[in-house]
Amino acid sequence: MLYLGFFVSTNNKTILDGSLPSAITKAASALRRDLLVAIPTETVYGLAARASSPVAIRKIFVVKGRPASHPLILHIAKPDDLRKWATDIPSIAQKLVDKFWPGPLTIVVKRSANVCDEITGGRDTVAIRCPDHRIAIELLERLDDAIVAPSANRFGRVSPTTANHVAHDLGQDVDLILDGGACKIGLESTIVDCTTNPPQMLRAGAITAEAIQQFCLTEIDAPSGESRASGMLEKHYAPNCIVELAFSRKDAEARLANLEIDRRIAEIIDFGSDLEKYAHEIYSRLREADKRSVDVVVVVKPPMTGIGIAINERLKKASNSAVVD
Ligand code: TXA
Ligand code: MG
Repeated sequence: MLYLGFFVSTNNKTILDGSLPSAITKAASALRRDLLVAIPTETVYGLAARASSPVAIRKIFVVKGRPASHPLILHIAKPDDLRKWATDIPSIAQKLVDKFWPGPLTIVVKRSANVCDEITGGRDTVAIRCPDHRIAIELLERLDDAIVAPSANRFGRVSPTTANHVAHDLGQDVDLILDGGACKIGLESTIVDCTTNPPQMLRAGAITAEAIQQFCLTEIDAPSGESRASGMLEKHYAPNCIVELAFSRKDAEARLANLEIDRRIAEIIDFGSDLEKYAHEIYSRLREADKRSVDVVVVVKPPMTGIGIAINERLKKASNSAVVD
């Protein structure tokens, strides 16, 4: 972690200690000048641009190498700001907001006239969340605008959960990084499309379909129709190494013993049933494997409960050999 006083600069990329008020001031000023700032959230680090700046938002798509058809999540300082950016808010969406915000839940709702086409790729809906992270909230309050922030990685790759991950991935392409330490959760937010009846779970996360169903007393559907969330692509969240999935430690060891000769540098990732630790560490572990030029990681799948469902979803995509579009 980089808490070395005021700021450190590695390879000309500036990482500021986000807990310092002066860092928030600099970040807000950079965003006002249409620059890109990487920010910590409770899920993963985001690559932020000012929501009212189409110029800055277009830069995000260039830096990420992301098709314009993949819309961005709008981040707001407080639940009440929802009304500025959304219209025709269904009661189910309001219920979710009252219960789960601030927190790792993104809702898809009808967009208001304040949302520019660059954010949504021209759709009439917008994805919105209110992050549960002091640094992100302080920045939003200082800016007095919303920000859009996809995960701060190149398109299709593993999301960053530390400031160093962002610096490693984006290099000179990010103007400033606010360091908030390692992200508490470590996996991207749950996404629920509230424009359909019943609502649809577009991406699993720390807030589970079960928790939502229990609280709202309503069904939540699996996604249908066109593939709307980039996390719904066949291959996503992918490291360079090959990811193989195992059902148990024993299964993982057997796979390791049977690897082909050209895949000799291999290791097992296994967190047992500690799901929080699993979510918190999995992306770091995949990145470390790449750093050491590991050919294959055999990952023991977590149980399909709680955030284990989201971890399994990400692992499945990370392990898929299909090519990203
Ligand atoms: O935890 C998170 O959500 C992180 C942090 C930084 O907030 N952000 C994140 O953003 O994961 P990103 O861009 O990597 O993923 C956003 C997802 C994409 O799969 C995108 O397709 C979907 O949200 N999305 C955005 N707007 C949408 C909309 N109007 N309808 C359906 N899906 C939408
Ligand atoms: Mg992403």
